[in-house]
Amino acid sequence: MAILFHCPWDNADQWLAALQAALPKDEFRIWPDVGDPDEIDFAMVWRIPSGALAGFPKLLAISSLGAGVDALIADPDLPRNIPIARLVDPLMADRMAEYVCATVLHHHLGLDRYDRQQARKFWQRHPTTDARDRTVALLGLGQMGQRCAKRLGALGFNLLGWSRAAKNIDGVQCSHGAERLAAMLAQASITVLLLPLTEQTDGLMDRAAFDAMPAGSYLINCSRGEIVVEGDLIAALDSGRLGAATLDAFVTEPLPGDSPLWQHPKVRVTPHIAALSAPDTAALVLAEQVRRARNGQRLAEQVDIDNGY
Ligand code: GLV
Repeated sequence: MAILFHCPWDNADQWLAALQAALPKDEFRIWPDVGDPDEIDFAMVWRIPSGALAGFPKLLAISSLGAGVDALIADPDLPRNIPIARLVDPLMADRMAEYVCATVLHHHLGLDRYDRQQARKFWQRHPTTDARDRTVALLGLGQMGQRCAKRLGALGFNLLGWSRAAKNIDGVQCSHGAERLAAMLAQASITVLLLPLTEQTDGLMDRAAFDAMPAGSYLINCSRGEIVVEGDLIAALDSGRLGAATLDAFVTEPLPGDSPLWQHPKVRVTPHIAALSAPDTAALVLAEQVRRARNGQRLAEQVDIDNGY
């Protein structure tokens, strides 16, 4: 049997080498050169064109090459009768936690303001806030959200967490459900988006959500661009309701040259790098998924298509 592989990233060769090392007996077929479709029993893909996964009668399972499966699930021709897995590689959660800690600390310490002062050769100190007096809200408490909570907790921040279903996490005051969102946003001066893109989270951060946040709050989006209503975000930044935003995910990627976000004075843009998947560690996770699928076992991190993640 053979494994279908589709990776549009510029390190596709590195992925393939890591996968071949982890699964030395397997043949990899790189889409669209699939050979005999009857020979494909597992697919490892990222943003494969819609409909491409429909023609493999012996396909046992599909794994995403990234944490998000929104693009995969959006394919109307995706085979619904076989298991689909997200990629959960422990290194990705560490990378995400580093990104979130860096951006939270940058804002917490007022470093943006000192960057602007330096540009004017202007020496002025501003009062500092202690981490224990700073509340950070984490929207999304999956593996990445929980790793971020752990690291931010170790730095002393006061943590709130919000998720679709109830969660109980040490050191995090958790709430859940759409009706609790505004009350939670109102208590945090920094909000971090770590949610999967689903029907419920699409457009979640809109004008009403920004209005609920304390004036001058800081938003960090490391999940999907669609979760934030871009026009509402820009209006909230312009009006001063939001103090700043760091954005790592956008509706259109790469972010088009004419996007107002590029040059907005209160926006920091990073090119979707918060938690890059890591071929060497991911290949081991994927090899185990192939083994499970072929043994008829449940995949790890199997997606519930109805929940969308
Ligand atoms: C990246 O956005 C991912 O889903 O892994």
